[in-house]
Amino acid sequence: GKSLDLAGKHILITAGPTYERIDPVRFIGNYSSGKMGYALAEEAAARGARVTLVSGHVSIAHDFSPSVDVVRVESARQMLDACEAAFADADAAIMCAAVADYAPAAPSDTKIKREGNEPPVIRLVKNPDIARTLGERKRSGQILVGFALETDHEGDNAISKLKSKNLDMIVLNSLRDAGAGFSTDTNKITIYTADGRTVPFPLKDKREVADDILDIMLTL
Ligand code: C5P
Repeated sequence: GKSLDLAGKHILITAGPTYERIDPVRFIGNYSSGKMGYALAEEAAARGARVTLVSGHVSIAHDFSPSVDVVRVESARQMLDACEAAFADADAAIMCAAVADYAPAAPSDTKIKREGNEPPVIRLVKNPDIARTLGERKRSGQILVGFALETDHEGDNAISKLKSKNLDMIVLNSLRDAGAGFSTDTNKITIYTADGRTVPFPLKDKREVADDILDIMLTL
């Protein structure tokens, strides 16, 4: 709880999974709950920011103040379009969504039938990298924050993503840590900043983690 230190700021946040359509009833998705991104949206709004929350499909309860504008999307492509529209006017963007790396190349307009068919082969194409796209567009003064969910060589992988996507900081959650990552109410993070700092944190509730992330952003 930190007063209104984000008053006057507009923060774009992505959250949740993307769903990539196979046919009208099936998709490729992932286990992202959206909890970390929603906690960031709540805390940023509580600290006075106007928030654009671009959210994939999630099923968590939330009670946002009117200063949070929720834009619901399904696919990575739709998420990119919504982010490009909001980023121009944003002071900062936090890329918390678990964006699918690939989408079916040719989604079927009709339900794919099992009867009389061989098991289908679904060809995939690469999705746009939303964080990288915003990193290329970033104006001076805009802050871009990414997340990294790693299982091995965590620090090195996080720092290489920080650099290659032109981020100002990256939040690492290691899947090795109990209580961190998808679906949990807690998270254990380490923040790496583009100005060379490494800031480890203990296991905390995701709302407190959100405040820690916003605090470090304010030092950039
Ligand atoms: O490369 P990787 O998926 O590990 O990068 C994770 C970071 O990049 C997260 O901040 C995630 O939200 C973002 N990302 C994205 N678009 C993608 C893939 C990842 O914005 N297609």
